[in-house]
Amino acid sequence: MSNPLIEARSIVRVFDNLKVLNGTEFSLSEGEFVAVTGKSGVGKSTLLGVLGTLDPSFSGDLIINGVNTAEVTSQRLAELRREFMGFIFQDFHLLPNLSALDNALLPAVFSGTDTRKVRDDAAAILSRLGLRNDNTPTRFLSRGERQRVASARALVNNPRVLMADEPTASLDEESEETLFDLLDSLRREKGFAIIAVLHSKKILSRADRILELKEGILHENHA
Ligand SMILES: Nc1ncnc2c1ncn2[C@@H]1O[C@H](COP(=O)(O)OP(=O)(O)OP(=O)(O)O)[C@@H](O)[C@H]1O
Ligand SMILES: [Mg+2]
Repeated sequence: MSNPLIEARSIVRVFDNLKVLNGTEFSLSEGEFVAVTGKSGVGKSTLLGVLGTLDPSFSGDLIINGVNTAEVTSQRLAELRREFMGFIFQDFHLLPNLSALDNALLPAVFSGTDTRKVRDDAAAILSRLGLRNDNTPTRFLSRGERQRVASARALVNNPRVLMADEPTASLDEESEETLFDLLDSLRREKGFAIIAVLHSKKILSRADRILELKEGILHENHA
C-alpha cells in the first residue's frame, strides 16, 4: 500500500490555556475526499492550519507524503507545501488590487513556474467556475466571486491535496453544487485528494468520509 498523503498522530494545539486539538489523529489517502465538520470555534481552521504545515506550533507527529515535518528545514517544508498543497482559506487571502487571473496565478509565481505555461489552465478554471476573465481588481468582485477565485488559485499548481476551509460558505445552493461538480471532475481528471471543512448536507453526502471535530478529536460520523 502506498503511504498516506497526510498522516497526523496525537496532534495537540494549545492557544494560551485553550486546548483546541487534543490528541487528534488523521490520515488522508490518495484521491480521497474527506469532509470535516463541527461547531463554530471547535478548531476546524486550526486543524487545517496544522495539517497544511502552515502552523508549526503543535505537538505530535505530522507526516506529509512520508516526510516527517519535524525532521526537515522550514525551507524544505515550504517547498513541500507549494508542491503538494492548494489552499482555499476561509477568508480567501486574495490580493485585492489584482485581477482574478493574476490572483489565480500567484502560486505559480511563488513556486517559480513560468506563468505563461499555466495561464491557459488558470483561465480555463476561472471560466469553468463561471467567472469573467477580465482586469477587474478582485476588491470589486462579489463575495461569492472572490470565493471562486480563491478556488481557482488553489488548483493552479496541480496540488496532490486541496485544503478547503468552508469553500462554499458565500455561495447559493446552485453555485455550491456547481463548484463541487467542478472540483469532483477535476479531482477525477487530476487525482488530487480533498480535505474540506463543510456544513451543507448536500455537499457532505459527496464525501468519502465525514469526520466531526469535537473536544479536540476527530470522530467518524456515520450520520
Ligand atoms: N491565533 C489564535 N490565538 C488565540 N486563539 C485562537 C487563535 N486561533 C484560533 N484560536 C481559538 O481557537 C478556537 C478554534 O478556532 P478555529 O478558528 O479553529 O475554529 P473553527 O472551528 O474553524 O470555527 P468557525 O467554524 O467559526 O470557522 C477558537 O476558540 C479561537 O478563538
Ligand atoms: Mg474556521
